[in-house]
Amino acid sequence: MSKHGKHKNSPAGAPDGKAPDHADDTAPADSTPAARTPGGRGNAARRLSGSRWVALAAVITVVVIGGVLGFAQFSPSVNYSDPRMIAMGEGLFATNCQACHGPQAKGESPFNVMGGRKPNGDYWAPALNGTAHAWHHPPDMLFSIVKKGSPAQDSRMRGWEGRMTEEEIHSVLAYVRSLWPEELRYRYDKANGLR
Ligand code: HEC
Repeated sequence: MSKHGKHKNSPAGAPDGKAPDHADDTAPADSTPAARTPGGRGNAARRLSGSRWVALAAVITVVVIGGVLGFAQFSPSVNYSDPRMIAMGEGLFATNCQACHGPQAKGESPFNVMGGRKPNGDYWAPALNGTAHAWHHPPDMLFSIVKKGSPAQDSRMRGWEGRMTEEEIHSVLAYVRSLWPEELRYRYDKANGLR
């Protein structure tokens, strides 16, 4: 979000700063027949607004492409094998996730590692350590579950947006991935274009 703000602000400010230059440009143009008419000024104004549109289009393109790539390619841009990320994620997992998903993400209940419903109607928090289903989800889906919360509205798995930065969410996922057996990590990375 803040990225978008930055993109929008800087180009919007730039043409304003240059406004006096443009006014000067139109002065010599007054000697040409086309520019002597009010239409001449109109052309200059149109040229200016045209360049503004180009700048705006460029900004939108950058923001849109950045957003799409940022979403679709977030995983290759994050090194999930980075020991620093894994260590950071381990601490965050202990503080934020362990109460439900259990130590080392072994699941809330050893008899319900796959999740499912408790007698009281709640969901069991499943294992995330490679013994259950989490590794079947592509990285962008895992990221979205942690950031936005479970699609199931009655789930206790709510999103961490606003409470964790994106980097922190990635680090928790890096930690979770580090708990998977090497062979599973390899298959997962291959299937998701991570290696
Ligand atoms: C209050 C309990 C609770 C907390 C805290 C919690 N979760 Fe969950 N989580 C659940 C439950 C329950 C489910 C299963 C139901 C569902 O998917 O909606 C779940 C599902 C998930 C899934 C999907 C697993 C799958 O196999 O589909 C992921 C990934 C996940 N949690 C990650 C995390 C991470 C990472 C944290 C900490 C940042 C966390 N959870 C904190 C309760 C919790």
